[in-house]
Amino acid sequence: MTDLKICVIGLGNVGLDLAINFSKKFHTIGYDINKSLIEKIKNQKSKHLKISKNGVGLEVSCNHKLIVNCNVYIITVPSPVNKKKLPDLDNIIELTKLISKFIRIGNILIYESTFYPGLTEEIFIPIIERESKLKLNKDFYVGYSPERINIGKNKRLSNEIVKITSGSNKKASKIIDSLYKRIIKAGTYNVESIRIAEAVKILENCQRDLNIAFMNEITKFFNKLNLDTKKVIEAASTKWNFFQFYPGLVGGDCIAVDPYYLIFSAKKIKHDLPLVRLARETNEGMVDYIYKHITKAISNLKISALAFFGISYKENCKQINNSMYLRIIQKLEKNYKVDIYDHFVEKAQPESNFVRTMECANKKYDVIIIGSKHDEYKKMNFKKFLNKFGTIIDIHGISMYPKNKIL
Ligand SMILES: NC(=O)c1ccc[n+]([C@@H]2O[C@H](COP(=O)([O-])OP(=O)(O)OC[C@H]3O[C@@H](n4cnc5c(N)ncnc54)[C@H](O)[C@@H]3O)[C@@H](O)[C@H]2O)c1
Repeated sequence: MTDLKICVIGLGNVGLDLAINFSKKFHTIGYDINKSLIEKIKNQKSKHLKISKNGVGLEVSCNHKLIVNCNVYIITVPSPVNKKKLPDLDNIIELTKLISKFIRIGNILIYESTFYPGLTEEIFIPIIERESKLKLNKDFYVGYSPERINIGKNKRLSNEIVKITSGSNKKASKIIDSLYKRIIKAGTYNVESIRIAEAVKILENCQRDLNIAFMNEITKFFNKLNLDTKKVIEAASTKWNFFQFYPGLVGGDCIAVDPYYLIFSAKKIKHDLPLVRLARETNEGMVDYIYKHITKAISNLKISALAFFGISYKENCKQINNSMYLRIIQKLEKNYKVDIYDHFVEKAQPESNFVRTMECANKKYDVIIIGSKHDEYKKMNFKKFLNKFGTIIDIHGISMYPKNKIL
């Protein structure tokens, strides 16, 4: 197994970490279509970017010619939804066609992108067989192994989380499992089919979406009763079997997207998932709910300057993809000029030039809104940025000024 050449395709949050882990044991190729990302990785001059004498190490490239002659192809590209919230598989289909041109007898193709149960077998395997003219389980093998990383403060690297593994037959499943065992410190959990592995990931994320939706629903009700949901949750958490979920603004490309894959897959067989649908509606509806509360709180104020602190979709991380805070800001911007601050985002993404640095916060605001629950905000003196009669709205009530808390 040591002479395997592994190709990881898509070097984003999931793929880069995975490629680095594989490169410690195998000759690994990291391929991504994003040229500037490849340059950035190369410029970091990581110690992994060297092929050692025994052939182990990482090469990264945006040239797909480099991916020929690999034995294992691992796909970690996004699995998004389109505007109608339907799975948008065009990119992965094209990529699968591309890899199908290169695969040879004995090769293994593993998908890590989030799918609904059945997707690999129904869509991708037929494409590979058609394009490569090779036969599954005779000439080549397929596997599915969902990525379960968590970003932000409770960040877990991919090798610290038990890896679910599966394959197109017993032989493939065993090889794929032993492959991941070489790099995953936490170990693996081999399941008997690709469909089970696909269902695991989507179950995990839908369960989370549903639990947060329930807390959002309860919070809206408790707000009407003038009850502080957080205090209720803290007290309820003293019971051993109470699950501690908090209300929140579900963004990003996983929990806010994956349930739509499940809804789509159910619709295909004319099955309804009302709870999953409603959870999505509830969580999506939080943008309007928060916006209404903000506008009500500031309606009587004379506002010439408004600042929004914290826009990453989740606390203590740099990602702003599908951030609900940005959607709230878009609405506010129809009536107000909004200055946006987020030290995580500003540091991480120079292209997000609409985000200001904290040092630039040298002006005073009539309204300050605190969005993402970044740890720094818990102790930050927001009042130094506030006009004498200004107001602070702390969406999650995490700061020292939780007066206008909404959730
Ligand atoms: N981000 C997470 O925390 C997380 C956790 C678990 C699972 N996932 C799943 O993993 C998958 C990848 O997520 P991510 O967060 O790493 O995405 P990402 O957007 O961070 O990275 C994806 C990378 O793939 C590249 N790419 C896109 N199309 C390509 C192509 N045709 N050929 C080569 N490269 C291509 C992009 O340039 C990008 O660098 C998704 O299905 C996601 O749902 C993500």
